[in-house]
Amino acid sequence: MRVGVLTGGGDAPGLNCVIRAVVRKGVTEYGFELVGFRDGWKGPLTSSTMPLDIAAVRGILPRGGTILGSSRTNPSKVEGGIETIKTNLADLGVDALVVIGGEDTLGVAARFSAEGISVVGVPKTIDNDLAATDSTFGFDTAVQIATDAIDRLHTTAESHKRVLVLEVMGRHAGWIALSAGMAGGANIILIPETPFDMAQVAEWVDRRFERGYAPIIVIAEGAVPKQGEMVIKDASKDAFGHVRLSGIGDWLARELEERTGHEARTTVLGYVQRGGTPTSRDRVLATRFGIHAVDAVHEGDFGKMVALRGTDIVRVPIADAIAELKTVPPELYAEAATFFG
Ligand code: F6P
Repeated sequence: MRVGVLTGGGDAPGLNCVIRAVVRKGVTEYGFELVGFRDGWKGPLTSSTMPLDIAAVRGILPRGGTILGSSRTNPSKVEGGIETIKTNLADLGVDALVVIGGEDTLGVAARFSAEGISVVGVPKTIDNDLAATDSTFGFDTAVQIATDAIDRLHTTAESHKRVLVLEVMGRHAGWIALSAGMAGGANIILIPETPFDMAQVAEWVDRRFERGYAPIIVIAEGAVPKQGEMVIKDASKDAFGHVRLSGIGDWLARELEERTGHEARTTVLGYVQRGGTPTSRDRVLATRFGIHAVDAVHEGDFGKMVALRGTDIVRVPIADAIAELKTVPPELYAEAATFFG
C-alpha cells in the first residue's frame, strides 16, 4: 500500500513526531511505502513529493517544525483544485492519505473523504481549539514557552514598577493565555471568550500597585474589550478566510497608561510559541497519534481522525471533529479569576 502524508496550516511542535511514528510503524509493521507531500495541500496539488522512508525520519523526534513543510493552501479555492488532487493521487499510486492539521486542513480532508478518497486525520494546533479531542499536540509546548516568558517578565516588571502586558496566540480561543497565565501567576488574564471591561482591568492594575507589586497581564490575541472591537494586524484574509490577529496587547498598554498613569509595555510572543523542540508531553501525544493513525489506515477505517479522550486514543469522524471550536468554559475562567487584581 502507498500512503501519503502531509502537514498543513500553522506548524506546531510535534509534527515531526507524528511523521516519524507513521513511517516507523507503517514500514516495519505493515510494509507500507510512504510518500511525503510537501507544503500542506500544495503538495498533492502540484505533485510535489519527497521520499519518506525510515532513514528520512531518523533524528527528527526532538525537532520543531515539519520536515514536510506546511502551508495554508486551500485547494477548494483553487480552480479545479479538488479534481487536480484526485488525479495526482491516482497518478502517483497513492492509496490513502494521512493528513496532519487543524480545523482548516482537516476541513479539506473531510471534503476529500466525502468524495471517496481514503483519508485519516491527525489533529494539530497550538491553539488547542479542536472540540473532538481533549488536547492537541503543540499546545503544551506553546504554554511552556509562554510560562517561561511570564516568569521572566515578573522580575523586570518589579524592577521598573511597570505594567507588563504579554500577548499570546490562540486565535479565537483563550487556552494558551489561560494556561500560561495560571502557571506563571499572571495578575490578569484576558481571553476571547469573555470580553473584558477596561474600567475593571484598570482597577485591578491600580490595586496591584497599591499592594506594592507590578502587574503582569496575559492577553490572548483574539481578546476583545466590551466597549470596542477586535484588533487585527492585517484585514486581508488567508485562503481559509482568516484575518491576522495581534495588536490588542499594544492597545491595552496604551489604554492602561491613559487610565492609570502607570507606565505600560507590551511583549508580543508571536511565533516563538510555535518554534523549537516539543515538550516531552507533546512528543508522546504526537507519537501516539501517529501510531493510531497508521493503524486506522491498516484497518481501512477511513474518514476518521484520531483523538485523545482521557488517556485513550479514539477515532472520530473527521467531519464531526471540525464541526465546532473548543473554547474556554466560563467555570474554568472563573477559577483563574481567583488571582486577578
Ligand atoms: O493556529 C495557530 C496560529 O499560530 C494562531 O495562534 C495564530 O493566530 C495563527 O496561527 C497565525 O497564523 P499564520 O501562521 O498564518 O500567521
